[in-house]
Amino acid sequence: MRIRDILSSDYVGKEVTLRGWVYRLRKQKGNAFVLLRDDRGSVIQCVFPSSKLDNVTRESSVQISGTVKQDVRAPEGGFEITGTDLKIFQVSEKDYPLGEYQSAELRLDNRHLVLRTRKMIEIAKIRASMLKFLRQWFSDNEWLEITPPLIVKGSVEGGSTLFKLNYFDDVAFLSQSAQLYLEAMIFSLGPVWSLTSSFRAERSRTVRHLAEFSHLECESPWVSLKDLLQIQEDLIRYTIDKTINERKESLKFLELDSSRFRELAQPFPTITYDQAIEKLKSLDFKTPELDGKSRTVEWGDDLNIDSERELTRKMMTPLFIIGYPTSVKPFYVKENPDRSETSLTFDLLGPQGYGELSSGGMREENLLTLSNRIRQAGLDPIDYKWYLDLRKYGSVEHGGFGMGIERLLRWFIGIEDIKELVLFPRTMSRVSP
Ligand code: 4AD
Ligand code: MG
Repeated sequence: MRIRDILSSDYVGKEVTLRGWVYRLRKQKGNAFVLLRDDRGSVIQCVFPSSKLDNVTRESSVQISGTVKQDVRAPEGGFEITGTDLKIFQVSEKDYPLGEYQSAELRLDNRHLVLRTRKMIEIAKIRASMLKFLRQWFSDNEWLEITPPLIVKGSVEGGSTLFKLNYFDDVAFLSQSAQLYLEAMIFSLGPVWSLTSSFRAERSRTVRHLAEFSHLECESPWVSLKDLLQIQEDLIRYTIDKTINERKESLKFLELDSSRFRELAQPFPTITYDQAIEKLKSLDFKTPELDGKSRTVEWGDDLNIDSERELTRKMMTPLFIIGYPTSVKPFYVKENPDRSETSLTFDLLGPQGYGELSSGGMREENLLTLSNRIRQAGLDPIDYKWYLDLRKYGSVEHGGFGMGIERLLRWFIGIEDIKELVLFPRTMSRVSP
């Protein structure tokens, strides 16, 4: 029997048996109160005579039988179980390391146990729904899901964040992005998408960078930049709508007001990179420098987290920025034929200062231009021979984008630190548990 069923239909007065774990335990003189958590993460209060729970501890695994009672004072839904029988699978050891108040570090050290808390459970459920609906959108729109390799020879997003790997007698890297492989697939499989881990040796400690993140990427032949924006927008709107609908209880528990997303029905606004720079200048915005000083942003600067925050602070929908300088983007981007110092690229920024959710755009399809760019980026064209082949045999206009799942969750749930949104976060200072 699941707790959820008891909370959602009429079991009052009936005998039930539940299996789970002692989430909280409060012993009083006469009675003891167990908040039982089942294996779906729901909880319900059970009342026993105190003597019956003498050796029970927090997180003990138990089976409880009893009668369902309605009680408005009971936490979680106003139902309670008057316990009649208790079977113990294992008495949890007394030194359970988690209590009410712990430092963030200690909680990260004990992530394998923190996963049992309501907050983490609800985040995991929201994440699962998002993944389900993202997949659903691609499937409904006839994009083919593929599984690219994650052990690779070349960088995609710059050499400085590559994780190096001993690969038998050679060297290889962990994939930063599946993009190049997706590009290879569009010639025979059409619009394709993948969900993989991507790896970045990010040396900075920020609230939005992980060393391993879940990366959703897609690529299609014969699309334009405008098409890509529409695809990205539709995908997000569909996923958020469906997730809100499916996870009402999780949103309630996390005290998330879904009216925050009301404006998502509106088209997402688009501005050019030039306009973004103008706007930042007109706001007299200064970006902090490494030396502690700050300076005005200039055309040619990449937009950092502070500039992104400034641009979307008051917005309630995501914002597209298109036409970044070619120089701030990787070797594969396509130049704007009407203005070669800018590229046919976009970033999507989350509203209310959440910053970059995705990056994408059109890809350079000309063999010569692309080989030159690879060289200019200081990369070895030998490692990209197969990628260059794609520009030799039937090259076509194509493009796509990549979106970090944790970035999407971070905005959706409104949690600042991205580490809280992954079950087992990997960062510069943490690979365990
Ligand atoms: O902007 P990025 O680096 O773009 C690419 O990798 C492209 N090759 C994607 C493509 O066009 N197929 O990464 C894409 C997205 C970012 O917008 C961000 O959401 C997320 O991936 N991301 C990270 N998320 C968490 N931690 C990190 N270190 C991330 N780096 C990128
Ligand atoms: Mg990016």
